[in-house]
Amino acid sequence: MQNGLESHIPNFYQLTPAERREIIIDRYALTVAEQALLNNAGGLQLEQAEQMIENMVGLYRLPLGLATNFIINGRELLVPMVIEEPSVVAGASLAAKLARAGGGFIAAIDAPVMLGQIQVVDTPDPWTARVDLLAHRAELLALADEVDPILQQLGGGARDLQAYILETAAGPMLIAQLHYDVRDAMGANAVNTACERLAPRIAELTGGQVYLRILSNLADRRLARARVRIPESALAFGDFSGADVARGIELAGAFAAADPYRAATHNKGIMNGVDAVVLATGNDWRAIEAGAHAYAAREGQYTSLSTWRRDGTGQLAGTLELPLALGTIGGATRVHPTAQLALKILGVQRAAELAAIVVSVGLAQNLAALRALATEGIQRGHMRLHARARQQVSD
Ligand code: MEV
Repeated sequence: MQNGLESHIPNFYQLTPAERREIIIDRYALTVAEQALLNNAGGLQLEQAEQMIENMVGLYRLPLGLATNFIINGRELLVPMVIEEPSVVAGASLAAKLARAGGGFIAAIDAPVMLGQIQVVDTPDPWTARVDLLAHRAELLALADEVDPILQQLGGGARDLQAYILETAAGPMLIAQLHYDVRDAMGANAVNTACERLAPRIAELTGGQVYLRILSNLADRRLARARVRIPESALAFGDFSGADVARGIELAGAFAAADPYRAATHNKGIMNGVDAVVLATGNDWRAIEAGAHAYAAREGQYTSLSTWRRDGTGQLAGTLELPLALGTIGGATRVHPTAQLALKILGVQRAAELAAIVVSVGLAQNLAALRALATEGIQRGHMRLHARARQQVSD
């Protein structure tokens, strides 16, 4: 629980931004510098931006909102979301409120093992090269461990080395696949460095030539899973019975599972929630997007990342599974002051804790979209929110 307080704050959306900020300042005992981040007076500075990218000429701002009502693994949470699209924060908050009726979201995260690839070509025989490579697995893992002694002290480091032959348009290739536990980092730096360190020895062992040495964004050893169960009765609203809403959501889930055209939009709705938290915490949302969509196509046909079923006991059960290569240390997360504030609001230090929140928000966002689509339609809710946004701008 964040400061022992509930994440359900009645009428939070009806307050002015200044009133909402007061609540947050109080709730998280924000320092003067942290308050300035919310107040237009602080945030990323030009000097910091200059260290981040090349040819920097200025800064680009986006709204930071807080989704309310979340209970994730028993913790009450307000969730920072950075997004330009209306109704995403409201949708997440609404779905989180519905989920409270079933105790909230439960999430579990795999060990933070990332994959690196080393591409070997022009071996005398790739199958023999593969055997020679794997015969030296222990030596290669020890070599990979040398690149980051601190990571190793923290319990991370090389976990496995696998190898496979690819028949490609440019001929056969041997691909070595390094499995590397990156602990609380996103992992690109550690894995890329380790792959580059292994390359000369792999070339020697295989008699081939090494070209690419790079992390894979299909981080399918680092999956995050969330589930939620909501009593159907809690889903009723307006003229819609809970059973009707639950059936509509189940049908929407089945549609997305069977049809790539629908699955793309269904998953886009999930990523509305995922990306907004990923961005708020300074993480690499392109990596998360690439991983999610590659995972959705893992069986040859692009499909839904989530499932929705009525479980026969009057409950609607939803699940979401996707790779989440997230860090709480390094990169923009360390440099960007507002990303640090987002982590403070979430009260997380470990990457796995952050991933549990992100996958739960993705599932909530999906629920909000399907609930609207299967009942009153998305435009009606959007129009309401647009009207409110216009009203606030003119207030
Ligand atoms: C819009 O940003 C997202 C939705 O299209 C998602 C969906 O269709 O499931 C509403």
